[in-house]
Amino acid sequence: MLEPLPERFLAADPSRSWILYWTLAGLTTLGEDVSGYRHRLAQTARGMQNPTGGFGGGGGQLSHLATTYAVVLALALVGGEEAYEVVDREGLWRWLCSLKQKDGGFQVCLGGEEDIRGAYCAAVIITLLNLPLELTPESPAYTPDGSTNLLSGLADYVRRCQTFEGGISGQPNVEAHGAYAFCALGCLSVLGDPRRIIPEYLDIPRLTAWLSSRQYAPEGGFSGRTNKLIDGCYSHWVGGCFPLIEAALGVGADGNSIPGSLPPPAETLFSREGLTRYILCCCQDQTRRGGLRDKPGKMSDAYHTCYVLAGLSSAQHQWELSTNDTNIGATLGATGADAVWNVLPYLGGDDDLQVFEREDLVRPVHPVYAIPLASKDAMRSYFLAKGSSFDDDGAAATAPGE
Ligand code: FPP
Ligand code: ZN
Repeated sequence: MLEPLPERFLAADPSRSWILYWTLAGLTTLGEDVSGYRHRLAQTARGMQNPTGGFGGGGGQLSHLATTYAVVLALALVGGEEAYEVVDREGLWRWLCSLKQKDGGFQVCLGGEEDIRGAYCAAVIITLLNLPLELTPESPAYTPDGSTNLLSGLADYVRRCQTFEGGISGQPNVEAHGAYAFCALGCLSVLGDPRRIIPEYLDIPRLTAWLSSRQYAPEGGFSGRTNKLIDGCYSHWVGGCFPLIEAALGVGADGNSIPGSLPPPAETLFSREGLTRYILCCCQDQTRRGGLRDKPGKMSDAYHTCYVLAGLSSAQHQWELSTNDTNIGATLGATGADAVWNVLPYLGGDDDLQVFEREDLVRPVHPVYAIPLASKDAMRSYFLAKGSSFDDDGAAATAPGE
């Protein structure tokens, strides 16, 4: 998928940026070193960046928050200065300001729909690139008294997306979907300490009940919404919610557990065994094509390969927030971006539940940023060192708010 593709991929041209992320993330989760793609990726990504800020799905295409998220994560995966320096941070910041809405949310592209994908992608992009939070006067959300910024009202926007079912919808008052639950929890977990901010903005018992209802017996996999079929990609979109919910509930971090120890299987909120069995038995394309898929009878593709592997990683690991996190109680901002996550392989205490071999243990995936912890830390540290005003970059001195 990283080489020239056959003609039938023409229709996937607007997803080129996504294909880069899915493929590099999939390889990384399998333990491959993808830094050798740095130069090629930097060249390709440069051609996807627009002078007005942001990245399109391919060259000459409209900037979109989802494709910008995909490119930024792909650059983080290959890492290194050559990749990081592709990003025109000032242009990206100005473009993000133009997408920020008065009600706290983000349009996904200029004049496009406002939804929770925008909220999550913006939160990830802003914190990975350490963008200024100040708004440009041109932003629809700008207030002359400086009382609003890029993150103002974002958590409230997320809150408004929780539905009567307990799940999360793409926009307020529509149908709940698992992919949007991940976006909601991910966005909140960037904005603040998950232990504080998730219970503050979401009804966790109702969300947990809805998420648990996504896992079906006997198959073991997850569906994306009520009365729909299991699909391997929800192993991440729904399965990836559990580390964040467990963190919010303090599972494994209560007074009774030894720090770093694993809760017994009965205390985990989903059947890791069931999900692992669905992935290993139903999602592998065992033809010469390889890769992972939605369900038996479907072909593998880069999207499912990436997210099935990420879901397998959630099933195989136990996450815990460091109790020494100095951000606890901090005011709402982007304090979750530096939350310290500890991870251990979840091998199960009981041999009966050990349904995969040790050599099939995949790598941990950051529960919020969907890349390795070290890739997230390296990119954020690089841009923290540069500061969040653009003077240091030699660009126009536009220290926002001045
Ligand atoms: C329904 O598809 C799918 C959705 C309503 C949401 C899809 C969104 C994502 C997968 C990810 C969004 C997140 C980011 C970060 C951009 P369907 O009707 O084909 O599937 P279903 O029957 O399983 O619901
Ligand atoms: Zn799918």
